[in-house]
Amino acid sequence: MSDKIRIAPSILAADFTQLGQQIRDAQAAGAECIHIDVMDGRFVPNMSMGPLVVEAARRSTDLPLDVHLMIVEPDHLLDLFAKAGASTIHVHWETGFHLNRTLTHIRELGCDVGIAINPHTPVAVLSEVLPLVDKVLVMTVNPGYGGQEMIPQTLHKVTQLREIIDSQKLAIDVMVDGGVNEATIGEVVDAGADLLVVGSGFFNSKFTPAQGMERLHTALEKHRTNQGQLTAR
Ligand code: DX5
Ligand code: ZN
Repeated sequence: MSDKIRIAPSILAADFTQLGQQIRDAQAAGAECIHIDVMDGRFVPNMSMGPLVVEAARRSTDLPLDVHLMIVEPDHLLDLFAKAGASTIHVHWETGFHLNRTLTHIRELGCDVGIAINPHTPVAVLSEVLPLVDKVLVMTVNPGYGGQEMIPQTLHKVTQLREIIDSQKLAIDVMVDGGVNEATIGEVVDAGADLLVVGSGFFNSKFTPAQGMERLHTALEKHRTNQGQLTAR
């Protein structure tokens, strides 16, 4: 596994009174992309942002924008999000009646294709859609809110996916979303994730985005040192 960790800060935890600056700070701190959580109050019990915020984020950075749609019937909004500047669009497996059509449409719009799965959804359901996607987003909390504790029983799905993707030599990023922070980053990386969505562990009133990034790196280094000491024993 590569030593480099790739972080996708989730602006759900950002200070919205200074969103542009928060995004620029995230870029300066070395973020891989900006994760934007779209919630409709139906698929999840909360509401958040829409295409307008994606468009504002697009004007704030040249980093890729990773748009996570937690909405029912996503099909009729895909064009709007692509037009607003989304680089990747993730739809939830649980919202798809005609996923083949939905994922193909995202590709036709010129975006990278992502599929997200809820904590209760097994990896096995993805077998027919893996060839159509660039990213799989494994939810490690029930979607709808930032700052929740990770559900550790979800991590075996990351490992399962990693094995499938490696054995089939697919070029797919395994992403983890929910409860990734200093305390959990080690086990998430060990499980086989490539790209980590981090909300409150990155944007937080207690530290700057640069410090948030630093804290994540330090925590991972510490974890690796501890693991090394354990295996050396
Ligand atoms: C949750 C969202 C996450 C959220 C993560 O429904 O999909 O992207 O922002 O926030 P943290 O890292 O605070 O759990
Ligand atoms: Zn998300």
